[in-house]
Amino acid sequence: MKIAPSILTADFANLSQEIKSVESADYLHIDIMDGHFVPNISFGPAITYQISKISALPLDVHLMVTNPIKWVDQFAKSKPKFITIHTEANRVAETIKSIESHHIGVGLSIKPVTPVDDLLPFLDHVKLVLVMTVEPGFGGQSFIYEALNKVKELVKIRKANNYDFEIEVDGGINTETIKNCRDAGVDIAVAGSYLFNQKDREKGIASLR
Ligand code: DX5
Ligand code: ZN
Repeated sequence: MKIAPSILTADFANLSQEIKSVESADYLHIDIMDGHFVPNISFGPAITYQISKISALPLDVHLMVTNPIKWVDQFAKSKPKFITIHTEANRVAETIKSIESHHIGVGLSIKPVTPVDDLLPFLDHVKLVLVMTVEPGFGGQSFIYEALNKVKELVKIRKANNYDFEIEVDGGINTETIKNCRDAGVDIAVAGSYLFNQKDREKGIASLR
C-alpha cells in the first residue's frame, strides 16, 4: 500500500519540519479548497509551489474547486505527479486536456454520493482515480465504508479494459480502516489526521503500510 500524507492537518507554522517528517511516504497529498466546491478554504498555488521546493516526495494535488480549468496552469508550475479534479466540477473534459498538455498525470475524483459511472467517459485519460471516503472539506471525519464498493467496481473495470490508473482513497484512514481498503484493492491511501497526530511519523507510515 502506498501512503500519501495529507498536510491539511499539519502544523502550518512549522510546515517544513512537518513535510520532512513524512518523507518516508510515497506521495505528498495537497488539498486545495475554494470555499465554494466545499465549505472550507485551504491554500493555493503559491504555497503549493513553496512546498514543491522543499518536498522530496512527488506531489499529489487534489483540487476541490468548482472551476479547476482556471487553476491548472498555476498548479502545473509546481510540477506535481498528479492533478486531481472532481467529476462534479465544471468543464471536466476540457480540464483533463489542459492537465495532459502539461504532461502531468490526470486524477479524477468522486464524492461519496457520486457513482462510478460518472468516471467512465474519462477513464482512458486517467492515471489516478480518487474515491472519497468522507465528504470532502475537512480532515478528521469518519470513514464511509460503503465507498469501498466503488473501489471493488473500479478494480473490475480496470482489469476488463486494461486501464492503468491507480486507485486512491481519501478520508478517515487509520490502521483499522486501511485494512478494509487493502482488501478492496486500493493502491494509495491518503492519511491526514491519523498521521499528523502521531509523534513518530515514520512509524505511523510504516504501521499504515
Ligand atoms: C478531505 C481531504 C482529505 C483530508 C483527509 O476533504 O481531501 O485529504 O485531509 O484527512 P483525514 O485523514 O483526517 O480524514
Ligand atoms: Zn484530499
